[in-house]
Amino acid sequence: MLFYSERGEGEPIVLVHGFPLDSRMWEAQIAEISGSRRLIAPDLRGFGRSSDASPFSVESLADDLHALLSDLGALPCVLGGLSMGGYVSLAYAYQYPGDLRGLMLVDTKAEGDSAEQKEGRGKMIELVRQQGSRAVAEQMLPRMLAKGTPKSRPAVAQALMSIMEACPPITIEHALLAMRDRPDQTPNLPAIAVPTLIVVGDADAITPVSVAQSMQKQIPRAQLAVIKGAGHMSPMEQPVQVNQTMARFLDGGC
Ligand code: MLT
Repeated sequence: MLFYSERGEGEPIVLVHGFPLDSRMWEAQIAEISGSRRLIAPDLRGFGRSSDASPFSVESLADDLHALLSDLGALPCVLGGLSMGGYVSLAYAYQYPGDLRGLMLVDTKAEGDSAEQKEGRGKMIELVRQQGSRAVAEQMLPRMLAKGTPKSRPAVAQALMSIMEACPPITIEHALLAMRDRPDQTPNLPAIAVPTLIVVGDADAITPVSVAQSMQKQIPRAQLAVIKGAGHMSPMEQPVQVNQTMARFLDGGC
């Protein structure tokens, strides 16, 4: 059973965290969106309070999510995911198209890993095995935030660091393997029939604006919002802009 935060009433909106994070990354969105809707933010298998040492794939994480939402009577839903959470959301959109009302793809992409990225996953597995989660968090932090964020919003950098270093090493290892081996979702994008919001930080170094633009072109009902002054963690770095963007999308008939 997955841990999840749930707040508010009405149309179910589900937010899926990135790697190596948990549902706490959505704190600002949970507070805002739950004012008018039923907001559910799970910790994926092995992450946060969903303690579990069993291996998983991106597709099985989508199955876990669907089972949870079915138990909660929260289907169909609007599903949003950041980065790895976006990989899971795209897998869900492919596996469960009938249980989806809308999609929010945040700082993420549809392509699978390149050969170089696959090699990088292997190196990170070595790092977490030898030096633990903190070393992985330290390596990732500078690439996750816009250059100015650690200075302008030190609390965001601290919160991000503390979530990442709390992620169990075995979960980091399983997630790296799952991301490395995930299928390319690009061929499935034209079949996504629901309204889709693509959100990307203007300084996202991991899944840049050009990647978001190309995803927008391939999803028939997609709109793109570029968040100013944000890197890969736009919902934490610029919560006001991201909340307003999501509210406009959700109010627009999603
Ligand atoms: C994430 O933010 O979830 C990860 O950076 C995704 C990835 O490593 O592909």
